Amino acid sequence: MASITPPELRWTRRDALGRGMTSIAVLCALPTATRTSAGKRAKAAAAFAPFQAELRVPPTLVPVSSTATEDRYELTIGEGRAEIIPGTLTPVYGYDGIYPGPTIRARRGRTAVVRTTNALPFNQNVHLHGGIVPAASDGHPMQLIEPGGSFTYTYPNLQDAATLWYHDHAHGLSARTMFYGLAGYYIVEDELEDTLELPSGDFDVPLVIQDRAFNEDGSLRYTENIDEGFLGDTIVVNGGVSPRFAVKRALYRLRFLNASNARAYRLELGGGEPMVQIAGDGGLLEAPVSRNTVSLGPAERVDVVVDFRRFKAGAQVLLTNGLGSGGTGTVMRFDVTGKRTESGRLPSQMRPREAIPAPSATRRWDLMFSTSGTPEWQLSGIGFDMERIDARPRLGTTERWLWVNRSHRAHPMHLHGVHFRVLERSSGTVPAGERAWKDTVMVAVDETVIVQPRFGPYPGRYVFHCHNLEHQEKAMMLQMEIV
Ligand code: C2O
Ligand code: CU
Repeated sequence: MASITPPELRWTRRDALGRGMTSIAVLCALPTATRTSAGKRAKAAAAFAPFQAELRVPPTLVPVSSTATEDRYELTIGEGRAEIIPGTLTPVYGYDGIYPGPTIRARRGRTAVVRTTNALPFNQNVHLHGGIVPAASDGHPMQLIEPGGSFTYTYPNLQDAATLWYHDHAHGLSARTMFYGLAGYYIVEDELEDTLELPSGDFDVPLVIQDRAFNEDGSLRYTENIDEGFLGDTIVVNGGVSPRFAVKRALYRLRFLNASNARAYRLELGGGEPMVQIAGDGGLLEAPVSRNTVSLGPAERVDVVVDFRRFKAGAQVLLTNGLGSGGTGTVMRFDVTGKRTESGRLPSQMRPREAIPAPSATRRWDLMFSTSGTPEWQLSGIGFDMERIDARPRLGTTERWLWVNRSHRAHPMHLHGVHFRVLERSSGTVPAGERAWKDTVMVAVDETVIVQPRFGPYPGRYVFHCHNLEHQEKAMMLQMEIV
């Protein structure tokens, strides 16, 4: 099912004709591609050598103004160039032109207001993934910012400290726009977390992991594959090909985010050194969980504390992907330097588990691929239709949702606007690292996963979907209205 037509050509043509844009619309956003021939564009670059460049950490977005209760930000969605491959500037789409986008650091109880301007020549929006936000600010795939327009998102931040992220959700475009760079971190901090004295500052490091493919001229090469989703041949961390990172002999908090279109990872440090998981999608666990591998489906987040004091200065510790090979088997390298440094501590207890209402309804969703008519991914026999509401859960309740995977692929299932607990996995027990609030859960082939979403505190219309972006676009997404 992989496409054979050069994807930029198909994208350009389809978007230009189908969306009534001028023919230069998308091409002008990818300047390198316009200057190369179609033949060259279709040619893949050879794999790139890892560890050639130092890890970059995305800058933190500075508020344009603040009051006692609120921080106001401005963000522009536009074009940019990023040094993904050392020595090459690759055209990207970026928040404020950079890839990954700037990190927003929010504080529980302080509202973040983000005025977002769309400087790209096609519709955009911003979804705060894992954010518990009013429906009007959720970035529903049909709530769009037109070219040249802007929209002000209001994020109340009345949720636990957690590693969230923001990305494009414009329907029909987001698999490509996210591939071309539109994703950034949004980190919520709170008082409970402060009391734990976890590693912070330079010792609190976001690591967004993605797979990419490149043309010979260094431009990004997207290939549409609605069966598997896009799979690249090169791993990129914080926007750079398999970087190296000079760490002190200290405790580090690493915030792993899998922002790949479709690839899942099984991360291993130094061939099985422990990583202590402290948080998942929705925030801190009750207690830390020591792990030798960390699995990460698309859109999932896992925060770990790694003790680099155990290594000698000069040690080189590899982070590898047990599910990959060649260029996708190597993620990055930590180069241990210097003396032992105190950077925080690893607590034994973290966020107590809160009591929630028992489920008041059960809904079953069959994850399936339909080949009658145009092939598409479906949930219980239907695909996305913006005119249809597929579930009406009641505000303030919880339900049991069954994800029954009857297809030949795994699916990372994600709900907007709410968090859930993972109750059961038909394949075995729910791992300890999945016992805190989550917003995305991997459902393996032939597996049934039962989750318990808590609906609220905001009513309104939200989508839920597979976060394999190619599955999502073709059309594995439904809508609920919390009433
Ligand atoms: Cu990352 Cu619909 O979301
Ligand atoms: Cu899927």
